[in-house]
Amino acid sequence: MSLPPGFLDDLKTRLSITQVVGRKVTWDQRKSNPGKGDYWAPCPFHAEKTASFHVDDRKGFYYCFGCHAKGDALGFVKETENVGFMEAVEILAREAGMPVPKRDPKAQQKADRRTILAEVMEQSAQFFRLQLQTAQGAGARDYLQRRGLPENTLNRFEIGFAPDSRNALWQHLTGKGIPAADIVESGMAIKPDSGTPYDRFRGRIIFPIRDARGRCIAFGGRAMDPNARAKYLNSPETPLFDKGRSLYHHGPAREAAGKAQSLIVAEGYMDVIALTQAGFDHAVAPLGTAITTDQLQLMWRMCPEPIIALDGDTAGLRAALRLIDLALPMLEAGKSLRFCILPEGQDPDDLIKAAGAPAMQKLLDTAQPMVTLLWQREIEGRNFDSPERRAALDANLRTALKSIKDPSIRTHYTAAIKELRAALFAPKRQKTWQPGGWKKPQKLPPSAGAKASLIAQQSGNLTARLREAMILAACIRNPVAAEHRESALERCPITAPDMAEIHHALLAFLHSALSDPDASASLIDKMAQSLGYDPLEHLMTLPPLRIHPHLRTNAEPELIALTLQEELTKHTANIGAEQELAEAEHDLDDLANEGLTWRIQQATKARAEATKAQIKGSANTSENRENLSQHLQKLIDDQIWVKKKQ
Ligand code: UTP
Ligand code: MN
Repeated sequence: MSLPPGFLDDLKTRLSITQVVGRKVTWDQRKSNPGKGDYWAPCPFHAEKTASFHVDDRKGFYYCFGCHAKGDALGFVKETENVGFMEAVEILAREAGMPVPKRDPKAQQKADRRTILAEVMEQSAQFFRLQLQTAQGAGARDYLQRRGLPENTLNRFEIGFAPDSRNALWQHLTGKGIPAADIVESGMAIKPDSGTPYDRFRGRIIFPIRDARGRCIAFGGRAMDPNARAKYLNSPETPLFDKGRSLYHHGPAREAAGKAQSLIVAEGYMDVIALTQAGFDHAVAPLGTAITTDQLQLMWRMCPEPIIALDGDTAGLRAALRLIDLALPMLEAGKSLRFCILPEGQDPDDLIKAAGAPAMQKLLDTAQPMVTLLWQREIEGRNFDSPERRAALDANLRTALKSIKDPSIRTHYTAAIKELRAALFAPKRQKTWQPGGWKKPQKLPPSAGAKASLIAQQSGNLTARLREAMILAACIRNPVAAEHRESALERCPITAPDMAEIHHALLAFLHSALSDPDASASLIDKMAQSLGYDPLEHLMTLPPLRIHPHLRTNAEPELIALTLQEELTKHTANIGAEQELAEAEHDLDDLANEGLTWRIQQATKARAEATKAQIKGSANTSENRENLSQHLQKLIDDQIWVKKKQ
């Protein structure tokens, strides 16, 4: 870059950011205070009716309290005009009456090259348009009519036709004096190793692809023959065309998205065209590849929550699910996605043809937030009937949540996922009789009780305490079997406090009891001396134990041993899984808390700043700052960071 030193500072001091921004927004006269260089307007970067977009003319900065968009005049031009840094400098320098700085020679060359190639594309577009009107284009016109594209749509999308000829376009362009090398570099002709170049697009319907500023940068060509090798053929990547950074119908959709406060992202050219015909001008499509991060950023510049409308087939669904992983790390306030999956086997074009615009609108209204799709992706078609499977689900969810970089968004996602998870794992409740008839009980928030019964479910409807009792009783009935499993018994976690005491005494007296002829009776005696008889009596007379065929006084020693082994194994596995679950919950909480801490920090900081500003200008406190301060105070009073207990 060859900006003279001090140029940018000079530019910034000469510019009024309110003038630059003022062309794109309508100031809120009541809220603004021009005398203090304080301006407010509805934000141009996100959909809103109130004025939360603030411009500080003296500092030369803008900030939106809604979507957190911020920057200076250069940044504003870059964002709203969708131009690079140097272009923004040029635009503003011209406006400020400063000499426009020379670009560095390489960048200048590149820009010149692109201008030349854009001219080749423009000439080609015109050629294709004309070809559609010729006798050769009759088949193409029929095809387009069959597909329901009227004249005005053909004009609006500049749809053309590439004749089925080896080099009709080549002849046309070279005839106009365009150098062969430019035609090849533009991707319009292919140069074989030997022989003359030939046209890339032959016998195809042509869709020109324009960038946001309207320059023709590429073409898409659709075969009319259903048996053609490739249904669509697109321009290759050229100095003009970067597939992953372009969108079909970008320019017109950007304008329409501002008005409609919505943006639809479809899969194909024909979908965008059908949507536009049905009155949804705010539609774009990627160009034959999966949506990229650059394309997501472009979409978010148009609309805070684009709706991804994907084909109702497995490929469409898979594309949506992949997009989640791409989008999660990029989410910020004012940047999210919704998903609308079309009916089986249909794309937006099919749906509009079959059911009309109202059906499409209805579907768009039911678009799902991304968190719902993320959840469905993790649970769909799976069964969570074992602790291991549940733990695996938690691990997947944790990975997804961790990938969200924005702490505040992560908090909200974590909370939403926890709710869905609790609903999934909550025990099914019975219908209850209430005056007025059988009613389904209301869904309760997850409680300690729900969690406990979850564990009970996992242990095959046996509480941990009962299982512990069975283990201890088996040991007392068959001390020899207990000794065989002594180390397992030592490691075995006993969670119920009364059982833990018995466990302790058992291990203490097991060896000495074994040297007596009736080891079982001796063990009971020794343990009772330490614990008293009551706890032991209580243990051995627990109803489920009393009726257990393998734990009765006269049960076969082998059967007692078998029961001991079985219960030990189950109990250890269950407790392990339970701990795993508890850890998962804890991790989810940590993720949430991290975000909440951040939010309170932000709120406190903003409040401190607002108060500082108040003191400085205390002679004439602006109403806005007062309001802001009150708002922040309310957030703090409401303790927004404290999890709401239902
Ligand atoms: P689709 O196969 O869904 O086509 O591809 P479509 O848009 O519904 O087109 P029609 O209705 O059959 O005419 C979606 C998009 O994928 C790219 C194109 O951008 C297309 O619009 N594509 C598809 C290709 O690039 N090449 C292909 O061979 C097929
Ligand atoms: Mn289609």
